[in-house]
Amino acid sequence: MEGAGYSNLDGGSRWLEKEQARSRKSRMVVIGSIAGVAALIVAGIVIGVLVSKHHSSSSTSSSSSSKSSSSSGSSGKADPSTGFFAVVNQKDPNDPSTFEPDSALSNAFYGVAYTPFGSQIPDCGSNLPAVIEDIQLISQITTRLRLYGADCNQSSLVLDAIQRTKVNMSVWLGNYVLPGDDAGYTRQRDEITTALKAFGTTNVAGITVGNEFMLNYLNANGGNGDPNSAVGNQGAAILNSKIADTRSNLKSLGYDNIPVGTADAGAYFNNEVLAAVDYGMANVHPWFANVSIDTASSWTTTFFQQTDIAAAQAQSNNPQMYIAETGWPTFSNDVGNESNGPSNASVPNLQTFVNDFVCSSNTGGINYFFFEVFDEPWKNATFGGVEGYWGIFNFNKTLKALTLPTCSHS
Ligand SMILES: *[C@@H]1O[C@H](CO)[C@@H](O)[C@H](O)[C@H]1NC(C)=O
Ligand SMILES: *[C@@H]1O[C@H](CO)[C@@H](O)[C@H](O)[C@H]1NC(C)=O
Ligand SMILES: *[C@@H]1O[C@H](CO)[C@@H](O)[C@H](O)[C@H]1NC(C)=O
Ligand SMILES: *[C@@H]1O[C@H](CO)[C@@H](O)[C@H](O)[C@H]1NC(C)=O
Ligand SMILES: *[C@@H]1O[C@H](CO)[C@@H](O)[C@H](O)[C@H]1NC(C)=O
Ligand SMILES: *[C@@H]1O[C@H](CO)[C@@H](O)[C@H](O)[C@H]1NC(C)=O
Ligand SMILES: *[C@@H]1O[C@H](CO)[C@@H](O)[C@H](O)[C@H]1NC(C)=O
Repeated sequence: MEGAGYSNLDGGSRWLEKEQARSRKSRMVVIGSIAGVAALIVAGIVIGVLVSKHHSSSSTSSSSSSKSSSSSGSSGKADPSTGFFAVVNQKDPNDPSTFEPDSALSNAFYGVAYTPFGSQIPDCGSNLPAVIEDIQLISQITTRLRLYGADCNQSSLVLDAIQRTKVNMSVWLGNYVLPGDDAGYTRQRDEITTALKAFGTTNVAGITVGNEFMLNYLNANGGNGDPNSAVGNQGAAILNSKIADTRSNLKSLGYDNIPVGTADAGAYFNNEVLAAVDYGMANVHPWFANVSIDTASSWTTTFFQQTDIAAAQAQSNNPQMYIAETGWPTFSNDVGNESNGPSNASVPNLQTFVNDFVCSSNTGGINYFFFEVFDEPWKNATFGGVEGYWGIFNFNKTLKALTLPTCSHS
């Protein structure tokens, strides 16, 4: 079954947050459509949590061949089929560090969420020219990015592109762990190892093990959406075994100074997982909570502080918490999803959210990864609705009709 199921199983409580399944897989995988709801009490308000999953089965037989990129980014020839659009000028076509800045861009974002073109097995198509172009743009809006997974050579490509462009960029590499897919975990761990050996750790700020693992596990196994239920603790034990394996792998490589964390739905942090990580990244989405654009920014900050920061502070290791994803969609493929109830998916509303959220979070010490850099046509094709339209940039890497704020970030 294709598409995301958006259903409010909680019958009447507010949808708080829908999880973005940043699935690595696209067409050839089983797309499970699971909706779950958790209720939690925050400041006396019962809030329903909508979740909607795009599950993927493990497709172990895939040949995950990267397209060999014979095309050269420096040729300046756009080829959208490779994710290269020739939107950045280089003074020296052979030196990606000589790119010319775009005055419409502004380094105002603490961090951004980034998925390179063609990084979903089995449809690998990621390549260096396209990633270099991405990094040239991303480096003009932030100094931090997070990845979701490690398939299709994306860890190496991103680190290589950062070093060739000579930009100031820290990366949180990702290992997208799916329940039951041990081979997928190991494959990505080894891709990360290869990348660290080739490009060093200078640009690596962390390794994120799992993206919405607990959310997926609870949806598949019950537990009433409570990450600290018995079922939740079973899932936590599985995730923690991957976290421990990642740590021991890093240690064997001599890289045990790299922080290890996990990313999950904002209401899905298990205490045993928090106790095992150096950092947690939480998705906090006003859109899926049906929050009005007028209060989207303040709602996001409040939810993050009261739910995620508070959960971390209750642990003796007090892991550092980040907002893993927040943003606002600009378009919907279908009329039914053009509104979250109070507000529409639109560029003016994204502008409002950027205006309200970015600079105030920078000064307020909220560490966030804005969701996301580029629109993603594969998500539009696979999931429909607003899924493909969260970018600051269009899919063709042109800036949406936005005025970026000019504040600085830490
Ligand atoms: C690089 O960015 C970080 C923030 O991510 C900042 O603290 C640091 O000063 C920057 N370094 C340079 C050389 O600009
Ligand atoms: C992965 O990317 C790196 C960095 O550009 C490159 O050196 C390497 O050859 C690539 N590996 C494959 C299998 O394409
Ligand atoms: C919203 O989009 C999803 C696909 O993302 C679709 O399954 C769903 O039916 C849409 N909802 C409405 C109300 O149209
Ligand atoms: C949230 O918005 C969606 C889309 O308009 C709607 O279907 C749903 O009923 C709303 N939920 C609540 C609790 O308002
Ligand atoms: C959303 O956009 C539609 C037109 O596409 C418009 O009819 C509707 O009034 C808008 N809703 C809101 C809440 O702005
Ligand atoms: C999004 O998908 C719809 C079909 O579902 C298609 O008509 C539209 O062109 C797609 N948009 C992009 C930018 O790929
Ligand atoms: C890029 O995509 C946007 C959104 O689809 C479109 O409006 C714009 O014309 C495109 N720009 C170019 C140069 O193709």
